[in-house]
Amino acid sequence: MLKLPGLIDPHVHMREPGGEHKEDWDSGTAAALAGGFTLVLAMPNTKPPVTDAATFELTLAAAGGKARCDYAQYLGAGADNAAEAAALAGRAAGLKMYLDQTYGPLRLDDMTLWMQHFERWPADRPIVVHAESRSMAATLLLAGLFDRPVHIAHISLREEILLIRKAKERGLKVTCEVTPHHLFPPPPNPPPNLRNLGEGQGGGGGRLEVRPRLNTPADRQALWDNLDCIDCFATDHAPHTLAEKDGPNPPPGFPGLETALPLLLSAVHAGRLTLDDIILRSYTNPRRIFHLPEQPDTWIEIDPDAEWTIHAVDTFTRCGWTPYEGQPVRGRVTRVVLRGKEAYQEGKVTAEPGTGKNVRMMNEEC
Ligand code: NCD
Ligand code: ZN
Ligand code: ZN
Repeated sequence: MLKLPGLIDPHVHMREPGGEHKEDWDSGTAAALAGGFTLVLAMPNTKPPVTDAATFELTLAAAGGKARCDYAQYLGAGADNAAEAAALAGRAAGLKMYLDQTYGPLRLDDMTLWMQHFERWPADRPIVVHAESRSMAATLLLAGLFDRPVHIAHISLREEILLIRKAKERGLKVTCEVTPHHLFPPPPNPPPNLRNLGEGQGGGGGRLEVRPRLNTPADRQALWDNLDCIDCFATDHAPHTLAEKDGPNPPPGFPGLETALPLLLSAVHAGRLTLDDIILRSYTNPRRIFHLPEQPDTWIEIDPDAEWTIHAVDTFTRCGWTPYEGQPVRGRVTRVVLRGKEAYQEGKVTAEPGTGKNVRMMNEEC
């Protein structure tokens, strides 16, 4: 048995409000605990998206009643909410800007709007950006011009990590995260002979549709080669049901909370990573980058040698599938303790809905 800090996932999609058939704060935070995460930062591309005080309150009310692990909620950057979002910054996980193709209505193309948010959002609060390739390069320019930190979500390409390396060398305040699925490619799913007619319409991936798209072996290798430049691991847990994924227009996204740590621990076993690599990118760095408080008396216990096989039927996420179905892994979470109370043990989530705390409101409560 090994004891690690409760892991932090800075990038999850809880789907509530508006997408509860895919996931809600209850099932999503149960999945987080089962995966060894005690603190998750929730993205704003819900229905409605979280862009103002009313939608923020709506989401926090749902989270407050249902969350089983600790959390904070992002605000989404919209076309006309720079001032209102900035006014709520102290209570938000951060500001999320969607600057490239993705799921949901929050995409911003007009760079004058990007500038409004960079001007208004407090400099000591995180801005997280979904930007790829050239929109990522443009984001780095803005980080330099406005001299403020930005965190680049789910980088996947060689050109992205090489640019980020250069930007860091020049002193730009840029950090980045990578997802397990851009490090550990999932197998073809479903098998090629079972692919449905929808394949190709949404970008070529069927069930494996995801943004950023699954990367090539060369891009993947570049991420591994430049791991020292990658600040965080983030699941980008983006649940969609199997029916949706197998439909004519598969929405992009994979569930990831329950497979991330086993995949990372398998890489430790294979000698590609160390446990310290995981702790740095799933605890130490996220805490620093997102200014997250310590969770007292909180830890996870893992059996690093347990060999098992990933099956969707054993998971807590509501979406009902995993891109890693049937994958053998080594290393599993055996127990999670959150603020002194057992929250998960041997396949059972024991934390009750509503016991998770909003880490941005903790000061107000005491
Ligand atoms: C995410 C989703 O479904 O919300 N999908 C994805 O493919 N990653 C959106 C996102 O993170 O861009
Ligand atoms: Zn994204
Ligand atoms: Zn995402």
